[in-house]
Amino acid sequence: MSFRVQPPAPAIPNRCQLFGPGSRPELFDKMAGSAADVINIDLEDSVAPDDKEKARANTVEAIGDIDWGQKSLSVRINGLDSPWWYRDVVDLLEKGSDRLDRIMIPKAGCAEDIYAVDALVSSIEAAMGRTRKLKFECIIETAAGISHVEAIASASPRMVAVSLGAADFAASMGMATTGIGGTQEDYYMHRDGARYWSDPWHWATAAIVAACRTHGVLPVDGPFGDFSDPEGFYAQARRVNTLGMVGKWAIHPSQVDQANEIFTPSAEAVADARAILETMEKAKAEGKGATTYKGKLVDIASIKQAENIVRMAEMIGA
Ligand code: COA
Ligand code: MG
Repeated sequence: MSFRVQPPAPAIPNRCQLFGPGSRPELFDKMAGSAADVINIDLEDSVAPDDKEKARANTVEAIGDIDWGQKSLSVRINGLDSPWWYRDVVDLLEKGSDRLDRIMIPKAGCAEDIYAVDALVSSIEAAMGRTRKLKFECIIETAAGISHVEAIASASPRMVAVSLGAADFAASMGMATTGIGGTQEDYYMHRDGARYWSDPWHWATAAIVAACRTHGVLPVDGPFGDFSDPEGFYAQARRVNTLGMVGKWAIHPSQVDQANEIFTPSAEAVADARAILETMEKAKAEGKGATTYKGKLVDIASIKQAENIVRMAEMIGA
């Protein structure tokens, strides 16, 4: 074990982040009434350039006016290469209520992107006497972003989550696809006349998980574009859950229950985890570091795996 102990990620439910454009305020009440843990009102790519100002005004108003319950409330600001992002931050913090939990920084490419937003946010918070510190989440969706992901994840104590944005990532990498996440027709291994599909998002997913876990930040999977394909969504969600991500975006309300289902540990998994912890307690009392559970090896590392599952179940139950 390194001398530096891995910091825990924030204990907040983050199984599903439901998105809706800031230019469609008629959706806000429906978003607030959904079963998503996090609501992301979008000012960026789902809002047309001519609608940017109206969407920003709608959003500022909705933060204080709508009852968002226990949800984490986040606004995706425009990218740092745009003429809109600074005004997004200024208006959200000068005119919006402090109910806003986080802002999402899209297309983060380097730690200095986060630093720049942090400097602006810190100055406005001080000027306005805001005592509730705004949190940050960002999207890794460019070649630069994935190359600098560890520096980005650790760029500010405000950072709570990092998402993988498949569509912009594919474009930036020059990947031969127009799909948003999921299986890609031409990404396969071939053997004995059969095709075996592989996961083109695997490396980026694992890199984000490693960076996030190193710095106590939540790793999240971004959008799955084809909302008429629940089986495709389930497969994508199960893969990233297996690799350590804690949740996934929903770009349509039909995906919220699907994400919650996959990222909530099943009753069976929780029962197994508790039984492993009991088994290891007994082993410890007998002076053993390794023993068996259901015919398989369990040892001291199994305690940490089981504790992750129990902790997640307790947090969501609470
Ligand atoms: N949040 C909450 N409710 C939503 C919703 C959302 N994001 N999108 C649609 N709904 C509602 C609709 O209002 C409709 O409600 P009703 O049954 O009361 O009339 C119902 O869900 C079914 O909607 P549907 O007709 O299937 O969708 P649509 O054609 O209105 O919109 C999208 C489809 C994809 C354009 C829309 O869901 C959307 O804008 N999603 C978010 C896009 C986004 O934010 N992208 C940025 C991140 S990638
Ligand atoms: Mg994007």
